[in-house]
Amino acid sequence: MSNEQLFFMREPWRFDPTYRRPVQPGDDLGFDTKALHAGFRPLDGAGRFNTFTVPVMPSMTFPYERFDKIPYPVYGRTKTPTAAVLEERLAALEGGEACVTAGSGSQALFNLIFTIARPGDNIVTSLNIFGEGYKQAAAIFPERCGVQFHFVEDPADLRSWDAAIDGRTKLVWVETPSNPCLFVTDIQAVADVAHSHGVPLLVDNTTATAALQQPMALGADIVLLSITKFLAGNATVLGGAIVGPEALTEDIRWNTTEFVGAIMQPFDSWLTLQYLETLPLRMMRHSSNAQTVAEFLAGHPKVKHVNYSGLSTHPQHALACRQMQTHGGLLSFVVPGGIAAAAAVMDSFKLVIHAVTFGTSRTICMHPRTITHEHMTQEERDVAGIDDGLIRLSVGLENPEDIIADLDQALARL
Ligand SMILES: Cc1ncc(COP(=O)(O)O)c(C=O)c1O
Repeated sequence: MSNEQLFFMREPWRFDPTYRRPVQPGDDLGFDTKALHAGFRPLDGAGRFNTFTVPVMPSMTFPYERFDKIPYPVYGRTKTPTAAVLEERLAALEGGEACVTAGSGSQALFNLIFTIARPGDNIVTSLNIFGEGYKQAAAIFPERCGVQFHFVEDPADLRSWDAAIDGRTKLVWVETPSNPCLFVTDIQAVADVAHSHGVPLLVDNTTATAALQQPMALGADIVLLSITKFLAGNATVLGGAIVGPEALTEDIRWNTTEFVGAIMQPFDSWLTLQYLETLPLRMMRHSSNAQTVAEFLAGHPKVKHVNYSGLSTHPQHALACRQMQTHGGLLSFVVPGGIAAAAAVMDSFKLVIHAVTFGTSRTICMHPRTITHEHMTQEERDVAGIDDGLIRLSVGLENPEDIIADLDQALARL
């Protein structure tokens, strides 16, 4: 069977620089209102589902009424009623036409690239990307699929982006602010560069979320989300999503997810919908707590350096102020003394929890050098700013003075 025969559900998506997202019902509502209402009205379903909350429908198959009448949804790998509400809500929040979910953020990225790139194609990005994304870019796609990745030399310099794009580039991918070093990329400017080559721009909006940053309004064509982080907010859900033109999300759904994966499961989708209701409120509190903590760390004698775009010393502070509503809940800082010093601080925390992931309502920390970015070469880590003494801190919703007291007593061990 050829690939062409496989593409029976949907035509492969082709980037169209003239595409404009169609106006959607509810576009005129404010962001906080969309976080509560988009995708679901209690009387949807002609009264069958007259419930205040979105119903969780765990059925993975949807019966045929007649032999020749295919139900829709037909099977839970590609569509369920509960995930459909989540997809509609995420699309509304990001200002995109449509959305397709995936089992994790990493899976969503994989599905996107697997759908749009072929052997010999390439993707342009930088070293300011999350660890599993880097591993897909540096090894999995080049070695197993023949898709190359160009890491731009200086992501702050637009000429670097321009120079890295060629006739086989299928996507430009930026993560901003980046995990773990909070590098901020100029979305509008990089979108203009990508579009001048007829190439779409993907923005990973996981760390800021749509509550703080609207990449599509700034020119991005596609948004990647890890739902596992701030969107679901409490490390009880693993999930991811791609938001973009419907022709793209349905290409992913029917030509990749249908064969090699699954969208998010109904209960996880439902839980995420509950968390999304408070996303705008949570992001403001995460941000104000992180600002207070960042200022404390920046003035601490045992701290060498703090990465947080809310600090006026951050190299892209002015850009972040333009591009984001506020600066988010993620920061990182460097202690002198390398891995041993980072370990001493992290093992001394009494309140802050040492765990992989971020965006949780409780403050957590992680050591990128040994946990998420361990496969980068030393040279790549130097470029990306991943120092041996770097500690990533996801600032939670506690009283900020309690977080600071814990940091203070742990840093006193150095
Ligand atoms: C910025 C960013 N995007 C995507 C992902 C992938 O998300 P998941 O953990 O849901 O696979 C991560 C994970 O750390 C991330 O930090």
